[in-house]
Order: sequence, then C-alpha cells, then structure tokens
Amino acid sequence: MRILRDRRQLVAMHQEWSRKGRGTVALVPTMGNLHEGHLTLIRHARARAQQVVVSIFVNPLQFDRVEDLERYPRTLEADARLAADAGVDALFCPSSEDMYPDDGVSPVRVVVPVLSEILEGAYRPGHFDGVATVVTKLFNLVRPDLALFGEKDYQQFKLIERMVQGLDIPTRVEAVPIVREPDGLAFSSRNSQLPESARSVAPALKRVLDEVASVCRTATVFEADRVPEVEGRACERLRAAGFDPEYLSIRRVDDLLEPEAGVPLAEQDLVVLAAAWLEDVRLIDNVRTRTD
Ligand code: PAF
Repeated sequence: MRILRDRRQLVAMHQEWSRKGRGTVALVPTMGNLHEGHLTLIRHARARAQQVVVSIFVNPLQFDRVEDLERYPRTLEADARLAADAGVDALFCPSSEDMYPDDGVSPVRVVVPVLSEILEGAYRPGHFDGVATVVTKLFNLVRPDLALFGEKDYQQFKLIERMVQGLDIPTRVEAVPIVREPDGLAFSSRNSQLPESARSVAPALKRVLDEVASVCRTATVFEADRVPEVEGRACERLRAAGFDPEYLSIRRVDDLLEPEAGVPLAEQDLVVLAAAWLEDVRLIDNVRTRTD
C-alpha cells in the first residue's frame, strides 16, 4: 500500500495510472481512527473497484468546536496497518496546510441549502459546508469513479448525494448500511471517548430509535399530533437513560423533510434520526422504518 502524504504524491500516482491504466477507482473518505464500520466500507470498495483509495484527513472546516477538533482521535500508524491488511492500494493523508494552503482557510465553500441547515445542521452550524467542501476537494484530487459513505451519517450521505447531482460531479456515491457492535451501538470513532460507565448505557440510543420506528410501522391512521408526541416521549426515555438529546426526529428517507401530512406513517418510507450527548460524547444514530 502506498502512503501519499500530499497532493504532489497523488499527482505522481495519477501520472502512473495514466501510463499503466488505472481501472475503476473507489474512494473511502475518512477522518481516520479506522474501525469495523470503515473496514466494511473498504470491503465494499474492494469488491467494486480495481484501485481502492482511503483518505484520512481530520477536516478542521467541519468542526464547530475547537475542543472537539483537538480531541478527535488521531491514530495514523494503526490506521495504516488496518488499511494495508484490508487490501487498500493507497492511503491519502494530507496535512491541513496541503488541503488549505491559504492559512488553513478555504477560499471557497460548497453549500447544499436546506439539507445542510436541518437536524445536524441546526445544531452544528457550518458543519455540512465543511463536509461538502472537503469532499468536493477530495473528489477533485482523487478523481474516483465511486465513493462510499456509511449510513450512520445518513444526513451526510444524502447531502453528498445531492451535491454530486447538483454539481454534476462524475463520481457515483453509495451508502453502506450501519455496522453495529453486538449490543447494537453503531461503530464510531467517538465510541473510544466514552467512559466505561457510559459505554454500557450507549446502546439505549438504538433501542429507543427501534421503539420509535416500530411505532411508525404500526401507525396506520394519520394523526397530526402523533409525530411530535412520539418524538417527545422518546426524548424523555433517552433522558431517563442518562442521555442529553439534541434531537430525535422522524423524517422521510428521500429528503429528510417531515413526514407527509395526511398519509399514515406506516405507509411512508421514514428514518428516525437522533443526536444525543452521553457524558461529554456526542452520539448520532438512525433507524429506517422499512427494512426491505
Ligand atoms: O464522515 C466522515 O468521516 C467525514 O465527515 C468525511 C466524509 C470524511 C469528510 O471529512
């Protein structure tokens, strides 16, 4: 596996690819601290492309709190070993100076209206502009035919899908289902920050989401007050378990807007999304109401 530490080395790889032929290229964009969720994305990429590139870049532009950026786990050596064992062809791990040569500031921002402002976007202003900007840059630098994203960050996936459509970016984006620990907790780089006492509480997030999804599946009559009431009760259950929820929301899978009025929830394709603090770790997760 090659380790490319800056865009110069990436350009050299492109030159080599154009001499020797490159086949299909798949990109798995990450911020490192690789875990089973990332390895699943890499396995999907491996099955679909001749060349698999993984990027590791802790993108300062998408962090709304400096403390969060500073404490984000950076484990490049271990990541490189995992990536090599998983059959990755190239690991692109640029520095901030290389990605943002204008004193760490991006002179251009990519904004995806509406999707960047709701749910996560409402609690983390500017976060999705940072994500859309860095993903556009990574796509331009790596020029992948295909890019894979985890469904745990469902809103991020929908935002990137819309960005790719809206800007005619010639990269196909695919979502890969959430990978969970045996107790249901979705794999996340943030899990390693959970103190032991909180780790045993964390799976309750998925249990509450499952309960809400099951209420939606059985709601065969439309009742206008049902959605806020169900969401409110779920937040109370999260609080009782020890979480401090930011939101828990029932949304349509396609555009993440509120369920259609007048149509029973059971007849709609919905996703229940939540973000909640546990101790000082922010967890997000989601569950779809239709599993087919
Ligand atoms: O999901 C992530 O790890 C990041 O948001 C991404 C897509 C790599 C952009 O920095």
